[in-house]
Amino acid sequence: TEGPEVIDVRALAAHGFFTFDPGFLSTASCESKITYIDGDEGILLHRGYPIAELAIETDYLQVCYLLLSGELPTQEQYQQFRAHVTRHTMVHEQMTSLFKAFRRDSHPMAVMCGVAGALSAFYHDSLDINNPKHREIAAFRLISKMPTLAAMSYKYSIGQPFMYPRNDLSYAGNFLHMMFAVPCEEYKVNPVIERAMDRIFILHADHEQNASTSSMRMAGSSGANPFACIAAGIASLWGPAHGGANEACLKMLEEIGSVDRIPHFIARAKDKNDPFRLMGFGHRVYKNYDPRATVMRDTCHEVLHELNVSDHPLLDVAMELERIALSDPYFVEKKLYPNVDFYSGIILKAIGIPTSMFTVIFALSRTIGWISHWLEMQSDPASRISRPRQLYTGAPTRHVTPFEQR
Ligand code: ACO
Repeated sequence: TEGPEVIDVRALAAHGFFTFDPGFLSTASCESKITYIDGDEGILLHRGYPIAELAIETDYLQVCYLLLSGELPTQEQYQQFRAHVTRHTMVHEQMTSLFKAFRRDSHPMAVMCGVAGALSAFYHDSLDINNPKHREIAAFRLISKMPTLAAMSYKYSIGQPFMYPRNDLSYAGNFLHMMFAVPCEEYKVNPVIERAMDRIFILHADHEQNASTSSMRMAGSSGANPFACIAAGIASLWGPAHGGANEACLKMLEEIGSVDRIPHFIARAKDKNDPFRLMGFGHRVYKNYDPRATVMRDTCHEVLHELNVSDHPLLDVAMELERIALSDPYFVEKKLYPNVDFYSGIILKAIGIPTSMFTVIFALSRTIGWISHWLEMQSDPASRISRPRQLYTGAPTRHVTPFEQR
């Protein structure tokens, strides 16, 4: 695929030059074979496959296999892979005590930062980054355990007992079970909701060098263990300009409340003296429709139809907001289209998942992207510690006045 013109500046460093690029607008921090994005054309490919095809033709575990290995699995490879994943879905029983150390009203992302990092205190057979077996088992443990940890953080917050994973269910089905089942009551996974959840997982699986993946790689470049690196990725994802956007988007829709209040919020979004932004709109790389948003919008309608939600006030606000923003010159000129999080929040809300869990679900979906990049980096002989430079703008050399004279 043809990309932009690339200028390799590495040789300049030897001559004392460096580039100044805050926010990395035009700086590639690594080479990667995993994901390709053309933001102008609205293209997203994983290992060459368009995201919409993957979302419709495969399931999340196939996408995990693809991101890790470079190829889609045969049926036999899929069964083996699934068996590996299901082998590790439980977490060490001692981890339940760890959850209990948190306040019940903790934000689940705060809990996730802690418990994901704490995996390195429990699984000593996955910490030697120079041992390929350790790296592989760490990858399986993370794919398998993140749904369990995510569901535990929810169950803990509402005071319900933790539900053990069910390995006879699909990856998405098992997650829904751990979220919504309660002991002594039958819980049946709705196949439409299961498929929607699986799509949410697929559409968030990877997105090349976003802030959280770069954080994962940056932490990994120093040789930190994979669980510690995942904690770095989760922390970075939490912010409202990144993974926190779906939670922020839903809060914004609730704040808008009704269609007649939209013009006021559109005016605020355009006002340069007002920090307010339309959450779920705009993207650093996409200056066209986010290809994930198209699939997510269709899935959103499927879910709402399945749940018989025809005139949900939040959905009315969302649809009208989308219509106005897509025709308003401010948004059109700045190429601010709805992104994937604009729709995923509405789906999650309709399924009954609380807003505070939205970014947690993003984190569990993105774990495969993080771990794939981490593994790619570990096997790259050219990889070295990430150490950005800075442009110093502080005081020139000066001398300390003794304390008694200041
Ligand atoms: N609402 C109103 N104006 C906006 C918005 C928005 N959501 N997004 C960008 N703009 C405007 C900016 O004010 C700026 O205007 P100016 O040129 O007149 O100063 C211009 O568009 C460019 O914005 P930047 O902030 O420079 O763009 P950047 O690439 O740095 O930011 C970002 C991208 C962070 C996603 C931004 O669009 C935003 O804050 N969006 C809302 C949060 C959001 O939805 N994040 C989810 C991203 S997707 C994901 O993480 C999966």
